[in-house]
Amino acid sequence: MKRSPELEPWNVSASAFPGHDAPIADRLRFLLAYAVLAPSSHNTQPWIFRLRGGRIELCADRARALPVVDHDDRELTISCGCALFNLRVAAEHFGYQPLIELLPDPGERDLLATFALGTRHEVPHEVHVLFGAIPRRHTNRAPFEQRQVEDALQARLVAAAEAERAWLTCFTRKRDRHAIAGLVAEGDRIQFADKRFRRELAAWVHANRSHSRDGMPGYAYGYGDLVSIAEPFVIRTFDLGKGVAAKDMDLAEHSPLLAVIGTQGDSTVEWIRAGLALQHVLLLATGVGLSASFLNQPIEVENLRARLAAITERQGSPQLLLRIGYAPEAKPTPRRAADDVLRR
Ligand SMILES: Cc1cc2nc3c(=O)[nH]c(=O)nc-3n(C[C@H](O)[C@H](O)[C@H](O)COP(=O)(O)O)c2cc1C
Repeated sequence: MKRSPELEPWNVSASAFPGHDAPIADRLRFLLAYAVLAPSSHNTQPWIFRLRGGRIELCADRARALPVVDHDDRELTISCGCALFNLRVAAEHFGYQPLIELLPDPGERDLLATFALGTRHEVPHEVHVLFGAIPRRHTNRAPFEQRQVEDALQARLVAAAEAERAWLTCFTRKRDRHAIAGLVAEGDRIQFADKRFRRELAAWVHANRSHSRDGMPGYAYGYGDLVSIAEPFVIRTFDLGKGVAAKDMDLAEHSPLLAVIGTQGDSTVEWIRAGLALQHVLLLATGVGLSASFLNQPIEVENLRARLAAITERQGSPQLLLRIGYAPEAKPTPRRAADDVLRR
């Protein structure tokens, strides 16, 4: 399919794998084409990869931080964890045991992980399903159908998060969804009242026809071409909190399933694990035909986070709030190509 350059990275094809006899650097570089398709907050793509001695080093790119909405780089680190998960699944798909070390060098805090290819092994069917979902996963902000997410699927989502040493709690009861939706709306009102939040968000929202390779085109929010041109100005200038809150409240209340992903602690290593868990959950969901999108406001606003934690009745810290259900497919958003984020 012919796509504009900023969407070209989605055309990745497994048939272009250079082969098991190709130099290690070529194989690793190929796998990066899957890493860059990961989701990231505001589509900042806050990752840099270095090829060193037959390994990939995954580094946080803090020049792409969001100091207002994500002052401690928590979501930035989670986004990098998502990219690492894609890398892992892609390596496994081609038969390699992934060798990963998290935070290998306490002296270099931006170095989040090293990644190498281990010995070849049998590939479980589930890996192929997750791999096939990488280029099909897109955040879907449309309303979801009322169709329930089957209990057995919910159990698989829980197991996916647990496999990454995180937890996931599902909320399907109306009362719980109403309480969580209320926190989301409160978060929207607080965030949009803050000029700095609006300015930061507006900087990453682009017109549909922009050829930017990062950030969020208006169509990702359902805006037509004309509206999308005005949107960054509107977001920057007006407090849209009331309207956004009402819309998100409605979306959250009418989604059949809300899910909180959390971790025992709230440190860098746990943020990476939250990212691994998030992408595991999202790819599994995509693989079984589910859509997902984010409602992280009650986690981003500090005093709401404790209230959300109380609703989950879990030990530890909520890291992500997802809405999951059935919906028509969403479109891909721009990406920088693997070569753009690779430092040699
Ligand atoms: C850690 C993290 C936090 C996110 N938070 C939100 C959010 O609060 N609201 C939202 O609409 N999207 C959120 N997103 C989704 C991103 O905006 C989305 O991944 C990005 O725009 C790229 O689009 P894609 O997921 O369709 O590839 C988040 C993604 C990540 C990884």
